[in-house]
Parts: sequence; C-alpha cells; structure tokens
Amino acid sequence: MIQENLFIVTTHPEFLDAGLAEIRRFDKRLTAVELLAPGIALCTVPDVPALMRLAAEQHPIFVRHIAPVQAIVLLGNIEQDVGKLALATATLPTFERLERGQRFAVQTRIIQGEGGSVKHPYTSGQLNQALAEAIVVETGAVESIKKPQIIVSLLCSATKGYLGISLARENLSDWPGGARHFAQVPGQLSRAEFKLLEALEVFGVTLPTKGHVLDLGAAPGGWTRLLLDAGLHVVAVDPANLDPRLAKQPRLEHYRGYAEHYLEEAIKTHKNFDVIVNDMRMDARDAARLLGQAARCLRSDGFVVSVFKLPHATREIDPLATLRAALALLNKYYGVVQARQLFHNRQEVTVVTARPQPSLA
Ligand SMILES: C[S@@+](CC[C@H](N)C(=O)[O-])C[C@H]1O[C@@H](n2cnc3c(N)ncnc32)[C@H](O)[C@@H]1O
Repeated sequence: MIQENLFIVTTHPEFLDAGLAEIRRFDKRLTAVELLAPGIALCTVPDVPALMRLAAEQHPIFVRHIAPVQAIVLLGNIEQDVGKLALATATLPTFERLERGQRFAVQTRIIQGEGGSVKHPYTSGQLNQALAEAIVVETGAVESIKKPQIIVSLLCSATKGYLGISLARENLSDWPGGARHFAQVPGQLSRAEFKLLEALEVFGVTLPTKGHVLDLGAAPGGWTRLLLDAGLHVVAVDPANLDPRLAKQPRLEHYRGYAEHYLEEAIKTHKNFDVIVNDMRMDARDAARLLGQAARCLRSDGFVVSVFKLPHATREIDPLATLRAALALLNKYYGVVQARQLFHNRQEVTVVTARPQPSLA
C-alpha cells in the first residue's frame, strides 16, 4: 500500500521526546504512531516531503535522522522477503528519482524484536546488496555508499519492512539512522576521538593545517592526539594524566590543572588560539561560562568545538532547560552557535561556535 504521510524519526533514546518536540515546531499536526525501537518512532504529518525540507534547513538538535515511509511490506522472515521488498521498492512513485547516473545508496536497518527474539534470514548488508543490485539493473543509477544523492531507506521490524526514497540531504544524515561509525585505528587513545571526528564532519568545519589549539578537559588525550596528528600545537588542560603515549610530543604542552585557572592566566598573558575544544565533564552552563571567558583567547576567525554534558531527566530536572541556558550564555559571546546531538554523544550535545563578537575579539 502506498503511504504519503508516514515517516520514521531517529534520536538518542533519552532524547526522543525532545526530538519530537522539535518536529512539532515544524508541523503542529505531528502524531507519533508507534515506538518501533528505543529512539525510533513511526510518525505522521500531512506533508512528509515539506517537513523533511524544513528539517534539513533548520537543523534540529535532537533529531538525528528522518526517513520517509512510502510503503509497508509484511515480512514472513523467509528468504522470499528479499524479492518482495525489491518489488515494493520498484513500485514506489518516488522510484523514478533513481535515474541513470544518479548516485544512490540503500540503507537497511534491522531492529530485533524484544530480547532479540526474531531472527531474520538475511542481514542488513545482504538486503542492501540485493536491493542495490536490482536498482542498478533496473535504472542505471550508480550505487555510492559514501556520497549518495538519493537514499532508499528500509527499516525491518519483526513483521514489517518500512520503505521510502528521499534526497540524502533531507534525511539529515548520510548514515542509516544517523549512526556514523568510524573504524578503530592503531594508536587511538579513547572512544571520545570519534566525537571530535563526527563533530568536524557534521558541522562541516576543517581544522587549520597549522596553529595553536586549546584542549580543555583533555585527558586521557584522544582529542589531543587527533589535533597533534593534524599538525597543530596543543595546550592540553586537565588535572588528570595524559596517556603515556603522548609523552615527549614536541608540539604538546600539558597544563596539569583546572581550566578555570588556566584561562585566568591565559587571559592575563594574552594567549591567542586558532581553535578551542572542550570535552570537560561539568555542568553545561559552567562550561558555557568558561567558553565565554575563553572567547578572549580565540582569534577572531577561530572556532570552538564543545561538548555540553546534560543531566538525566527527572521530575525536578529538565535537561533541555540546562541546554537552553548554556546556549543562551554562549550566544552572548559568539556570533554563531550550532548544536547537534551526535551519534557519538551520550547524555550530551556537541556545539560549534564561531566569530566572537568584535568587542571581545
Ligand atoms: C570525557 S573526559 C575527556 C576525554 C578527552 N576529550 C579525550 O579525547 O580523551 C573529561 C575530562 O574532563 C576533565 N575535567 C573535568 N573538569 C575539569 C576542569 N574544571 N578543568 C579541566 N579539566 C576538567 C576530567 O579530568 C576528564 O579527564
């Protein structure tokens, strides 16, 4: 059956309500129909393409991924499902977007039943491959996993396949469900490294090839390692030890103390950094206050990448109020403030700010 008003929203499981509230701001008529898995909700609005265009323009913070659902296919958990899904894909009205030469990717997610009770006789990789091969033969479109223009999204639950075709940029992420995975590399010091890599990619910022970076809350040193590898000089601020593998790095200075103290000195001595990064474990509002001070040590064309840790929601504590307060503080010091809850963020969001206001530069 062809559907016109269904779509799937993916967020961090703890931030699903926040993500849905953001979508409701784009379209008040949003209805959440079914929770398909933690952080994955089937929803309706009257005009899904319009909603996806608006979301792509406005960059919501908590919505990681949106996929249209234009057909729902009943699955028997048998191998014949693959042919059924391929046929359903080819009969979607949006299938005509897959023209000769267009770069496309099939992105399948399989969600297990409760406790992983349902075993599908195919993997997401096998479904991607089978559908992509059928599309290439049928349309002459070109499969491109890394730079697709068109995405065929498929989410398989225990009993149903949810299918849709959309422009990649309107899914809000080039990765299925926004799940950006990076390969582990030899010498990696912490999983936190992925957070910085993902932030640079999502916000489209590039590290300078030379210059000085202030790394606040640097230990054990994953971000420091990436910054050194990029050819930069790094002042790593943390009372904790850095990983011994960073010892004797010529472009590294470890200030073994608190950011509050370092910044006081840095402002007095007129230190100037090209980039400031922050991953300190502290209240987001305190971090924002410190980054406000740090603006005085940032070159006028520099930028900040910062993680803001958020509290878990309780009856008394609203993590979104904490975030709003932190962003408002940051807005006083920086011209541009963008925030996203990234795949590698846990109970936190990542913020990129730039252009300190002229009076502070
Ligand atoms: C999540 S870890 C940072 C991980 C690091 N980005 C990496 O890639 O390895 C948080 C760090 O913040 C540091 N921290 C917390 N409060 C701080 C403060 N006031 N000043 C400096 N560092 C602080 C902690 O000691 C801890 O090492």
